[in-house]
Amino acid sequence: MTVQQDREINAATGQPLVVLEKVNKHFGALHVLQDIDLSIKRGEVVVVIGPSGSGKSTLCRAINRLETIDDGSITLDGQPLPAEGKALANLRAEVGMVFQSFNLFAHKTILENVTLGPIKVRGVKKADADKRAMELLERVGIAHQAEKYPAQLSGGQQQRVAIARALAMDPKVMLFDEPTSALDPEMIKEVLDVMVELAEQGMTMVVVTHEMGFARTAAHRVVFMDAGAIAEENTPHEFFTNPRTERAQDFLGKILKH
Ligand SMILES: Nc1ncnc2c1ncn2[C@@H]1O[C@H](COP(=O)(O)OP(=O)(O)O)[C@@H](O)[C@H]1O
Ligand SMILES: [Mg+2]
Repeated sequence: MTVQQDREINAATGQPLVVLEKVNKHFGALHVLQDIDLSIKRGEVVVVIGPSGSGKSTLCRAINRLETIDDGSITLDGQPLPAEGKALANLRAEVGMVFQSFNLFAHKTILENVTLGPIKVRGVKKADADKRAMELLERVGIAHQAEKYPAQLSGGQQQRVAIARALAMDPKVMLFDEPTSALDPEMIKEVLDVMVELAEQGMTMVVVTHEMGFARTAAHRVVFMDAGAIAEENTPHEFFTNPRTERAQDFLGKILKH
């Protein structure tokens, strides 16, 4: 069975992959995550949307333990997130993360940026890591730039490299935190196209974005966050055409005007 068939079957049976239960997090007096319950199925694509400061980034960062939580639980594939050491490094590999800023290593080539994690964390041999990295760079349309340095690439190209770099670790889930919001308009589509393809191939994805085209094309579910809580969740079609809460109506009213 191919990995993709495996994923599709799992998606169909609705097995939960990432489960957050009663997750709470404070930054001092600010209650930034409030009783978050969220279960993400294998193969599911969840778009997280909501006003600035509502806790979307903190939610993503909690899922790969860049942020600790105060109480509640987060499990990946049935296992609680490890707190430290080698287990934490492995978790970070299993949860691919793509940020707004690309965070590529400036003094390493594109190819080295993609192979570094597999070699250092996964112990993959350089020749094997190179081969796999070239396949991934091919997939995101950057293979011909493999020997260049990040600064020689456009923002859209760098973001596609960042996606390839995360994929090189064979993650179970990919988190995207506003991956296109720092890009010039003409580059947004090339990144979204890669993400749509990934979704179609059955990758489990959590995507913070206000790109409604992406949400409508690729998401199974939209989660609307407001002031640290999940205020509403629904299918993209229902959420965008018929938001139930006043806060979601307000928010959509604002972003749709732009
Ligand atoms: N490290 C931090 N220390 C203190 N406050 C923070 C920190 N990170 C985020 N915050 C605050 O937490 C709230 C939620 O932030 P964030 O998760 O980044 O929201 P979003 O991604 O939805 O814009 C904001 O009010 C933000 O200022
Ligand atoms: Mg954010």
